[in-house]
Amino acid sequence: MTAKLIKGTEIREEILEEVAAEVKDIKEKHGVVPGLVTILVGENPASMSYVTLKIKTAHRLGFNEVQDSQPADLSEEDLLALIDKYNKDDSIHGILVQLPLPKHVDEKKVLNAIDPDKDVDGFHPVNVGRLMIGGDEVKFPPCTPAGIQEMIIRAGVETSGAEVVVVGRSNIVGKPIANMMFQKGPGANATVTVVHTRTKDLAAHCKRADILIVAAGVPDLVKPDWIKPGACVIDVGVNRVGEKVSEKTGKTVAILKGDVDFDKAKEIAGSITPVPGGVGPMTITMLMKNTLKSLKFKLGLA
Ligand code: GUN
Repeated sequence: MTAKLIKGTEIREEILEEVAAEVKDIKEKHGVVPGLVTILVGENPASMSYVTLKIKTAHRLGFNEVQDSQPADLSEEDLLALIDKYNKDDSIHGILVQLPLPKHVDEKKVLNAIDPDKDVDGFHPVNVGRLMIGGDEVKFPPCTPAGIQEMIIRAGVETSGAEVVVVGRSNIVGKPIANMMFQKGPGANATVTVVHTRTKDLAAHCKRADILIVAAGVPDLVKPDWIKPGACVIDVGVNRVGEKVSEKTGKTVAILKGDVDFDKAKEIAGSITPVPGGVGPMTITMLMKNTLKSLKFKLGLA
């Protein structure tokens, strides 16, 4: 059996078209567009490429996009003042501070300074709390988990009563996706198990999963015999395992591998996300959706 591929690149296009249509409609009726500022401190190459992609996507959708690049030695005080400026700026509906931040800056302090109503990353404790309560309380679900849930829904995978196993317990993926999957609502109502580095028998838990979500950051951690035949496998891992020269551009690019042994897993799973081209493109897509949502909340449309 060969699994159905759940392609983030295709789902991204569907969602971005929906967002673009809504942006156009709101612009015509209300004369405003969503505003997103991306604050980048320093020159981390991975962060620079993420930020460029975020800005490009926002531009394509007709957002007011602002890229605020700051030097690596920007003081914590100055960064907090910058966030305060955007908190007060009515043309900005989403504030994103690209992580990781330089070591001399307290990340928690910075994330807590963002107005929760502009926190389109969903990292502020207020939004984490709203996510935990669930239902109408949720304003900005964090982007990667929101993208995973959207992929599961659009792939037509039944979640109600399903056994979901989440591998990993990070604040950005493991904890929020586990929480989202057991809530009441579409793409949820599942029975959820979270496994991690201290779990005694990882394989035994994974083998029970109707939906296996892996966000461990360990290449090929999940072996093919850990997968229940027909299961839906969501691989969140993006592990740089080497470099190669791209045939298309002639540039040196990273060789990426997921947390699941894809070639063998696809013969057992019912559906599976590839790496790259699976969960990756969904994160920026959901960031755009959250920024639009922020404007809609402000206009009383959501
Ligand atoms: N760095 C890596 N992923 C993310 C993300 O989703 N949001 C932010 N702000 N920084 C990141």
